[in-house]
Parts: sequence; C-alpha cells; structure tokens
Amino acid sequence: MLGLLGEQGSDFAHKVDYANDIVTIISVLCTVAIVGAMLYFAVKYRQKNGVDHETPAIEGNNALEVIWTVFPTLVCIWVAWLGYDSFVDLRTPPPGAMEINVTGRKWAWDFQYKNGKRTTSELVVPVGEPVKLIMTSKDVLHSFFVPVMRTKMDVIPGRYTHEWFRPIKTGDFQVFCTEYCGNEHSKMLARLKVLPKAEFERWLADDSEERKLAAMKPSDRGKELYVAKQCVTCHSLDGSARVGPTWLKLFGKHGQLADGSSYNADENYIRESILNPQAKTVAGYPAMGMPSYQGQLSDDDITGIIEFIKTIDGSQKIEVAPVAAPKKSDAALAGMTPAERGKALVSDTGNLCLTCHSLDGSKLVGPSFKGLWGRKEKLADGSEVLVDAAYIKESVWKPAAKVVAGYGPVMPALYEGKLTDENLNDIIEYLKTLQ
Ligand code: CUA
Repeated sequence: MLGLLGEQGSDFAHKVDYANDIVTIISVLCTVAIVGAMLYFAVKYRQKNGVDHETPAIEGNNALEVIWTVFPTLVCIWVAWLGYDSFVDLRTPPPGAMEINVTGRKWAWDFQYKNGKRTTSELVVPVGEPVKLIMTSKDVLHSFFVPVMRTKMDVIPGRYTHEWFRPIKTGDFQVFCTEYCGNEHSKMLARLKVLPKAEFERWLADDSEERKLAAMKPSDRGKELYVAKQCVTCHSLDGSARVGPTWLKLFGKHGQLADGSSYNADENYIRESILNPQAKTVAGYPAMGMPSYQGQLSDDDITGIIEFIKTIDGSQKIEVAPVAAPKKSDAALAGMTPAERGKALVSDTGNLCLTCHSLDGSKLVGPSFKGLWGRKEKLADGSEVLVDAAYIKESVWKPAAKVVAGYGPVMPALYEGKLTDENLNDIIEYLKTLQ
C-alpha cells in the first residue's frame, strides 16, 4: 500500500506490510486529528484582552463515552489480530521446508546445507520453496535479519532458534546482523541469493571439490556417534523399548515428562537431554538412567546427532553396526577362575551391566546384583521366581520375559549372541560371590 518497507521478497511480506501500513495510517490520522484539535482550541480559547474564559461545567455525555471507548477498542483488537495473524505465519514453517543450518560468529554468517555444502556470508536458496533456517551462535548474541523477506530472529549461543521464508522472486538481497555484537557488528553482513530452482540444484550439487575436503555431513556424523558413544544401548531406531525412548520418529514428538509437564522434542529439547539428561525425563523412564554428555560431545557432534535423529522416520532402513565390545584377550582370561572371568565380564564397560545393576544393594534402573543369587523375586504379574541359573540366563537373553516387580521392562535385548552360555556360567559364579 504505502511501500514504506521496500521491496517484498517473501509470500508473507505483504501481510507484514499491510499490518505496518494500517498502524502507520491510524497513527498519522490520530496524531493529525488530536494535535490539530489541540492547536485549534489553544488558538480559539486563548486569553484575550486580559480576560479568561469561564470554564463551563460539563456533566458528561454517555453516548460519546460509549463511542470513544468501543470504537478504539475494536480498532485495537483489529490491529492485534493483524499482528497476530502475520506473526503466526512468520513463526510456522510449512512441513517439508528446506532446512539450512546457520551459525553466527564474530563477525560472519556460516551456512551449511543438508548435503554438507558450506558457505560463508552467502545464503543461496531456490525461488518458490520454503526455506527454514536453524540458527545458533558460536560466541555472542546476533540477530539474522533479511529485510526483503520481512523476517528476523535472534541467534543465541548454546541454543537453536529458527526463522523461515518462501522467496517469491529471484535476485540478490541484503542480510544484516541486527544485534549489537562488538566492533565489527556493522560489517556482519551476508548476501541472500535467490536462484531459479534448476539453477539452485546445480549450484547445490556442484561442490565436488568442497565435499571431498569437508568433513562428513551432520547426519552421518550423528550416525557414527550413535554407535561410538553407546547411544545404541539405550535408544533403539526401530521403535522397540530399551532403557530410554526410541529415536524412531522422535524428532518433533510431543509427550509427557515425569513431572507431568509436557515436552516437544525439538532441537533445544534434544540438546538439553544430551547435556543435562535429568532436567526433563520422559514419563515412564528411569530418572537417573542417562549420563550427561557434557564435555564429551562438541556442538557439531550434537548438531550431528540431532540431524541423525531427524532422519529416523521409519521410511528408510538404517543399518547400524552392532556395538563392538572391548574383549579381554583369551590369554588374560585363561588364568582366571570362573568367578573372576564373570567379574571381568560384568565390569566390562562394553557390556554395560553396571550402568543399571549395583553391586552394593542400592536400587538403580535394575535390581542390584548383591544377594541376587538364590533370592526369591516377585514378578510384575504377582508370581514368584527363584533366581537360579535358568532364570538369570533367560533374563539376560530375553530381558522382557520375566520382569521383577517394581522395575520397568527397559533392559536392552542385545546380549543374546553377545554373551555365550559359558560367559553366563562365569557371571553366575561371580554373582554367587556377591552375598
Ligand atoms: Cu552479529 Cu551484530
């Protein structure tokens, strides 16, 4: 309408401009009317010939009161609606939007695409397609502002924020940092390049050199870490229950936490759950079930894991190599008694027994090993069972078969084939010593 905000580059730009125009027009009209009336009365009723006017006693006018209360209220509601309506558009990226990771740092913008392509200070996008920017900062607060798209969002260290837009025209446009971030804040610029779709695809694919040099793409890196950092032990990819929630379709999931509040598995929630797992425990899972990965995973690692989780939607089969358990050499094991071999197996970090079972009688995720042998345990279905060799073997190989009352069916079924009958006989000998 008024064109005060300049060129419109995104499909919701006209809504933002419309709200801005309405507010501007109302403000100008009100200012002119109020200041005009004020000046008019100031001149008309000024002191003349040294005599003041008598002030009449006005009793009020109900009709006028109602009009000038109701009418501005309706205008305010309308303006609030205009703002709310376009704000919802601005904050709601359509499903399937192309995601680009943005990192702000003093004093440049880095971009990374799903295929691993990286650029700095140049954001290239296709015309007509929704683009979602997932943004974080390496150092201080920045703000990613694309005036032509009418979108702006703070970029915060240690957190992800997002903004999105759908370009409606090709061309080169300016990106600003709009949060004062130090000496070169005013030079923290980037160029937004909107290309026709085919040209964009060519540009995106044409990075044969860079791709070889660049490290793995984030989701591949996350997949590596899923195995290397033992996430696989507690989080399945196929929906099956383990110690922790499955990663299948985890991203974007809503659910309930142990304290009754709800969660939304977005980037920030997953990041917090990796670094501070006890902060928000999903209902039904052990509160102390997961160790913190603070200091073990870099920001890029965590981004990689999040990207990997996003890919696990069940539509494709994800092959993950089984956990390679560090093995004691045969020679080292040969000189040991069965109980000592059992102790070695239980203590072996690759087997993870002691993550969930204590040796001192304290209650962790699973029953303590102390005094377990020969004990009578009550099962979840009310029946009793004697903890003998057969029960222990069944519980290791088929953990879900007979769960002790008071514990969840959370033990991973990954020991069948990993621990042999002999191994278990050794472990049983070791358990016998823990009375
Ligand atoms: Cu970054 Cu200002």
